Amino acid sequence: MSQAATLEGTQRYAGKFKEFAAEGHFREAQGLIVSSLGAGTYLGQPNDSTDASYAAALVEAGLAGFNLFDTAINYRFQRSERSVGTALKVLAKKGFPRDEFVVCTKGGYLTPDGTMPPDPNRYFFEEYIQRGVFTAKEISAGCHCMASRFLENQLQRSLRNLGVDCVDVYYLHNPETQLGEVPRAEFLARVRKAFEFLEAAVRGGKIRFYGMATWNGFRQEAKAADSLSLPELEKIARELAGDQHHFRFVQLPYNLAMTEALTLGNQTVAGETRTMMEAASDLGITLVASAALLQGQLAQNLPPFVAEALGLENDLERALQFARSSPGITTALVGMSRAAHVEANAKLVGAKPAGAEEFTKLFERGNSA
Ligand SMILES: NC(=O)c1ccc[n+]([C@@H]2O[C@H](COP(=O)([O-])OP(=O)(O)OC[C@H]3O[C@@H](n4cnc5c(N)ncnc54)[C@H](OP(=O)(O)O)[C@@H]3O)[C@@H](O)[C@H]2O)c1
Repeated sequence: MSQAATLEGTQRYAGKFKEFAAEGHFREAQGLIVSSLGAGTYLGQPNDSTDASYAAALVEAGLAGFNLFDTAINYRFQRSERSVGTALKVLAKKGFPRDEFVVCTKGGYLTPDGTMPPDPNRYFFEEYIQRGVFTAKEISAGCHCMASRFLENQLQRSLRNLGVDCVDVYYLHNPETQLGEVPRAEFLARVRKAFEFLEAAVRGGKIRFYGMATWNGFRQEAKAADSLSLPELEKIARELAGDQHHFRFVQLPYNLAMTEALTLGNQTVAGETRTMMEAASDLGITLVASAALLQGQLAQNLPPFVAEALGLENDLERALQFARSSPGITTALVGMSRAAHVEANAKLVGAKPAGAEEFTKLFERGNSA
């Protein structure tokens, strides 16, 4: 089995859907061909039946034209990563090998393994502090760590859980969590150390790219205490590894109810105020939208102007269409633990993404609604 997603593999994958996939469903990003919708694995119970259901849904997703899988070590206490691993094995047997899929995971949150231990403090003490993986001082908000030894430990675990030799995109998970507790200068020093580790992991063949998966950080006004500056972070990567650095992916929530990446000028690039979509494009960074359905809430009851602007059959399709068609979004993630949901969402593989005309109508009608 090949080690990672490759241009050849992802092109081969897209080629398998050439009769069915609409123009614009597959896009180029960082030398890979990726689908406009990716499968997320956040929600759900940490139990065996949800594991099996996710694995089946991910196989279905791989067979239906979604070649980006998004997970995190803490999702369902490491079980979601294992479900992705199970699905990749099944897909390889069905003629869809590893090099066709962009496998993304995240580290940063402390997580137990499989189930909540009876005494979590004791578990983390014995598993991590006693073994010298992190010190108490390196933990923020009681749950978050970016220290290199911890990231190294977490990446090793993720590789094992996923059953792969290399993760295509490794995100620092909600790093802005630390800004609630440590001064910005200390935060940036921690990011620099983490990026140093991640660049070394790229050189060691353990990851292909790295990035930040965020919740609030890139959606705030620039002056907010936990806001993140993309140019400031990109500069750190460039100082460490030059123009060929591998800080190439950012994930942030983006959906019909959370439109900041498109509408809020909270970044400054070369003295100019820019939105996240503009700043990411200026800096050569790929944007991935999370929570495309706002955790399922946008699957129905959207205001009528959305249907008038975007067409399609139902609100679920319109919500996904919005996220995946927005300029600057490469892939919109939708969490799917059920194969039936994959089947419904896969209708969009055959539908052309919305163009500028639909977007103009949407914003004109939205503003007058
Ligand atoms: N900060 C971060 O790093 C961050 C934060 C949030 C999300 N994410 C990533 O983004 C992914 C997507 O976000 P999300 O999972 O939080 O929320 P989401 O994609 O907005 O919504 C997922 C929910 O929608 C339901 N759903 C999916 N397709 C449906 C359909 N056809 N009909 C009705 N319901 C449907 C799912 O149900 P079933 O599960 O029952 O199929 C699930 O309950 C996550 O899974 C995760 O990978 C990252």
